[in-house]
Amino acid sequence: MSQHPAPDPSTGAARGPERVALRGDVLYLRADPGPGGDAGDCAHFEPDGWLLAEGGRVAAVRAADAPPDASWRREDWRGHLLLPGFIDLHVHAPQIDVMGSWGEGLLRWLEDFTYPAEARWADSGHAARSARRFVRQLLAHGTTCAMVFPTVHRHGVDAVFEAAREQGMCLVTGKVLMDRNVPEALRDDVAQAERDCLSLIERWHGRDRLRYALTPRFAPSCSDEQLRMCARLLRMEPPDGGAPYLQTHVAENRDEVRWVRELVPRSRSYLDVYEQFGLLGRRSVLAHGIWLDDVDRALLAERGGTVAFSPSSNLYLGSGLFDWARADAAGMRVAVASDVGAGTSLCQLRSAADACKVQALQGMRLSAWRALHAVTRGAAAALEMESELGHFQPGAWADVVAWRWAANELQEHRLGLARGLHERLYAWLHLADERNVAAVYVAGRRIQARPS
Ligand code: GUN
Ligand code: ZN
Repeated sequence: MSQHPAPDPSTGAARGPERVALRGDVLYLRADPGPGGDAGDCAHFEPDGWLLAEGGRVAAVRAADAPPDASWRREDWRGHLLLPGFIDLHVHAPQIDVMGSWGEGLLRWLEDFTYPAEARWADSGHAARSARRFVRQLLAHGTTCAMVFPTVHRHGVDAVFEAAREQGMCLVTGKVLMDRNVPEALRDDVAQAERDCLSLIERWHGRDRLRYALTPRFAPSCSDEQLRMCARLLRMEPPDGGAPYLQTHVAENRDEVRWVRELVPRSRSYLDVYEQFGLLGRRSVLAHGIWLDDVDRALLAERGGTVAFSPSSNLYLGSGLFDWARADAAGMRVAVASDVGAGTSLCQLRSAADACKVQALQGMRLSAWRALHAVTRGAAAALEMESELGHFQPGAWADVVAWRWAANELQEHRLGLARGLHERLYAWLHLADERNVAAVYVAGRRIQARPS
């Protein structure tokens, strides 16, 4: 994040992290605007307004003509867009090492690039350095909360949690479970995995802003016994943080779907494998879901789980086109994620823009309102954190990104021609990226330097 003038000294306000007033074009979503281009009253936009944060949480959003008193330290982001920090519901920490690798579809890509990169996390020093770099880069790309796949290694989970804790972030992760059909070096066994999960849950779940997710990689890599173990732990009621989450992959690629049919012939479908083991609930996040059918969609809607639609990854691996209109018709919850490293950018603006394109290919127009909702409040809802994340209503965490409307002449020119807020936002969403990030705040605290 580039340097910016120091807080306005003219207020004489006491310096300190407690009460901060950010001035800029404040925008957040109040609800999912649904399909169609009209935000209705779902969007709250306060041009040249004030975003007040106290003790790390939003106190108020005010109009330009209602400035806070001198007890608030002011930071001037006039001419910038102040948005809730983006939430990435599906991203793999070790896979920034393999972004943009040339190769075949999903299953070969896993063997050729992904598993070797994850095996390198066996070295705990490498894992710690990689985890810190990953978290720094999330923030540098405007993402302040994420649901993360680390690796099978217990110390890798510690490393990701620790890196997020250092930044005060909200982050959900858990040990990747895989006891079959993966290279020997990455294979775990159920008894040890259960002990690891239990001790990680005890250590991290509900600590600061961190939460644990049971993380069976995908049905092909998990034995029945392992999925049963997941279900057992999922039903735990730890004292803090509520029940743990579940994250996995489903119905991403046609060869993968065929493979699951061979491995688990008794299941009606790929999703049904997870249903059979009792793994689907309101805290379940399933990446992709491209090849679900209507019965699956109805089931997932009933269970309340969320699909992490990962358009950049789906295009990159040639996996297919996620059908959001069908998901809507079934009442399924959807958020938009990067799925780095099959996704090619950590910037959720790129994910959102790719989501628009994938839907356009299927005759559906995604508005900027809905795309932004899917990477902020919609993703917070999937984590059952909507009361305090992904928006600027009072009491929400003050996770804020100040974005430059324009970072170059072309953006300046195009946005200058926009005839209204939606046109401006939609063009911005497609043209901007992490180079537009001017400042990042986590729980009201500015993350100072641009991470290297
Ligand atoms: N399915 C199982 N593991 C993975 C992974 O690492 N990336 C993607 N895109 N799909 C998967
Ligand atoms: Zn993934």
